[in-house]
Amino acid sequence: MTDTATRPEHGPSAGDPLEVAFAVNGTAVRAAVDVRESLLDVLRERLALTGAKKGCDHGQCGTCTVLVDGRRVLACLTLAVQARGRAVTTVEGLAAPDGTPHPLQQAFIDHDALQCGYCTPGQIMSALACVAEGHAGDDEEIREYLSGNLCRCGAYPGIVAAVRDYADSARSTEG
Ligand code: FES
Ligand code: FES
Repeated sequence: MTDTATRPEHGPSAGDPLEVAFAVNGTAVRAAVDVRESLLDVLRERLALTGAKKGCDHGQCGTCTVLVDGRRVLACLTLAVQARGRAVTTVEGLAAPDGTPHPLQQAFIDHDALQCGYCTPGQIMSALACVAEGHAGDDEEIREYLSGNLCRCGAYPGIVAAVRDYADSARSTEG
């Protein structure tokens, strides 16, 4: 029996590398990925973008949150091939070219919204989307829409204060 007879053509199989092209923080990237490989592993292991953290690798902690076409996703549950042709934003893409922190990053600093910092990149990426989605009207709403991002250090009061501050200033800039 030939190999073709035992393995019908159903597209790429596990283990076969597949070339994907997408943008990360405004830069075009190409990578040959295993179809089973997560976006998180490609960002961290291939592209050396270690801002997104691998906390649980099971969609339960939010430390791996990045934006894909402006929408927050858990990079550990997103296949790298799903990013094909899309724009991925990680925490490394937020600061200005001269290193000035993004206003939301500055708000985290101002409100002492971290302790060990492990959850912080995910909190910031999630909060950025939360505000853009219009889900940062008050502290309760912020807590609800950031509830997928866990902080083992319990820095929640500072996180909520930082997001509220950023949301308020973003609204006043718009208005
Ligand atoms: S590492 Fe992705 S949700 Fe925990
Ligand atoms: S600051 Fe340590 S886990 Fe959130």
